[in-house]
Amino acid sequence: MSFDERRFRDALGQFPTGVAIITALTPAGDKLGMTVSSFNSLSLDPPLILFSIYCKALSFAAWQKVDHYAVNILSEDQQDLSNRFARAKGEKWDGIESVSGKTGVPILPDAVVTFECEAFGRHDGGDHEIFVGKVIALHENKRQRGQSLVFFGGQYRQLRAHGAHNVPKDSNLQGWSSDWEGLG
Ligand SMILES: Cc1cc2nc3c(=O)[nH]c(=O)nc-3n(C[C@H](O)[C@H](O)[C@H](O)COP(=O)(O)O)c2cc1C
Repeated sequence: MSFDERRFRDALGQFPTGVAIITALTPAGDKLGMTVSSFNSLSLDPPLILFSIYCKALSFAAWQKVDHYAVNILSEDQQDLSNRFARAKGEKWDGIESVSGKTGVPILPDAVVTFECEAFGRHDGGDHEIFVGKVIALHENKRQRGQSLVFFGGQYRQLRAHGAHNVPKDSNLQGWSSDWEGLG
């Protein structure tokens, strides 16, 4: 390998992502929650998403056992929540309001959008495991649309208004371009 881990991490940090908190209920009824930036879309039909969890995370074994979970996409005013759910164990849920999704998973009501999923598959991802979820319900918070929190270069960032440009209309881009002008 011609690079060390620090350089690899820095290079990866050049790819901006959003920030999500994955939430679930253990079979014993305890709430799980973890901040992730590894969320991504996977398939439209069937509707699949993915994220990855570090195998040495304290809650890793608990995540492997849940049948359902939710992916809550954070807004730019939820940085404190992101930090709280990135702390190892701790009292992540103390004083945090949640509502129950269709399947009983705890959902963060102020998230931009929440993907409620049933566990679809888990795959080897080196020191992480890739979790694939089948989306069974969407919980949209129209008030927060366009205000998603961004993570880039190891820092939280905000989307800039007037920084949006349309993707050209082209048949090869089916579905990737959008007429949405939410950011102006
Ligand atoms: C912005 C951000 C993104 C993160 N993304 C991930 C991720 O994709 N996968 C992961 O395993 N940990 C990720 N983490 C770290 C976990 O949130 C952190 O290790 C957490 O303490 C794990 O929970 P646990 O200790 O209760 O298992 C991220 C942390 C931050 C601040």
